[in-house]
Amino acid sequence: FTVDMDPNAADKGAYPYYMLKEIDEQPAVMRKIVQKYFDENGQPKIDEDLLKSMAAADHLYIVGAGTSYHAGLIGARIFEKLVGVPTSVHISSEFAYEQPLLSKKPFFIFLSQSGETADSREVLVHVNENKWPSLTITNVDKSTLSREATFTELLYAGPEIAVASTKAYTAQIAVEAVLAKALGEYMDKPAAREFDVKHQLGLVANGMQSLTDSKGIMKDLSDKYLSKTRNAFYIGRGIDWSVSLEAALKLKEISYVQAEGFASGELKHGTIALIEKGTPVIGIITQDRTAGLTRSNLEETQARGSNALTIVSRHLAQDGDNILLPDVDELLTPLLSVVPAQLLAYYTSLGKGLDVDKPRNLAKSVTVQ
Ligand code: G6P
Repeated sequence: FTVDMDPNAADKGAYPYYMLKEIDEQPAVMRKIVQKYFDENGQPKIDEDLLKSMAAADHLYIVGAGTSYHAGLIGARIFEKLVGVPTSVHISSEFAYEQPLLSKKPFFIFLSQSGETADSREVLVHVNENKWPSLTITNVDKSTLSREATFTELLYAGPEIAVASTKAYTAQIAVEAVLAKALGEYMDKPAAREFDVKHQLGLVANGMQSLTDSKGIMKDLSDKYLSKTRNAFYIGRGIDWSVSLEAALKLKEISYVQAEGFASGELKHGTIALIEKGTPVIGIITQDRTAGLTRSNLEETQARGSNALTIVSRHLAQDGDNILLPDVDELLTPLLSVVPAQLLAYYTSLGKGLDVDKPRNLAKSVTVQ
């Protein structure tokens, strides 16, 4: 008789791939973040020295690579809304060599699942040389970026093994939201006071659960529209556009579909030329102000033959929408809209017989520049 010697087999439990396990863990990660970051009175627990240092800044700079950069795009919107401080987001490999003109009192936030990404560390070395204050938000305590930054906050997402990042992305956004709430309240900003992050993250956890419980919908859509296509688009506006970048990255990384995330209003200025009969175009629609606009952009692609699909917040849903998202505060919709996109990528990769967890040419942690 033979013994299964795969040391990882036990950790995966009944799951065929880590990625699926990690997608399914997201509701629990949200609850863990609530448990770690709030006290018994429902107040966020963030180190006062960190809040003091951030409150003294005139501009926040978020730095990250890959999926972490995408989580930064969402975080910047949350910081600007709740704290009212200008926040910009930078790709670490760009920032290290093309440093933008900085404000007088910058504060740096490094997002890194592993805490080891060389491109991000390169920026941190420069930040430390200039004695600017910094925070690393990471999944790995005592990682390089955590040791070298002024402050650290942890993601509490548990080990992420699949190369394509899923639960780290949603954990990063959740921790950014908690931090923005704490900082905004510290600075006495009404928008932060009125934003009940703890309650919202509870709604998010339940919403994620109902999405991961309906995987069949994503599997069917993937089989029908994505498994045979060479290219695909995710489109949206504002925060939905930011999510579309991450959604497209998932599809590229593990299913090798050439996917692009695009600002839906910008399509008509060139990119719509790429739409052919059968090109999948997936609209992400979660914001009251832009829902109608994204829908009409989607119709424009349909008129050119696209297979238009939708990921829509329930209160904005119409007949014929494909994937409905439970309603949560508009600032936190990325935590839900990304989940179907993760599952669409997963099933497309699986359907093609690819190694979901170890896509070609990619590494989990990139320690070269
Ligand atoms: C690699 C991984 C990505 C990840 C990026 C940044 O490219 O394949 O999934 O988003 O590194 O990693 P970090 O650990 O810094 O978040």
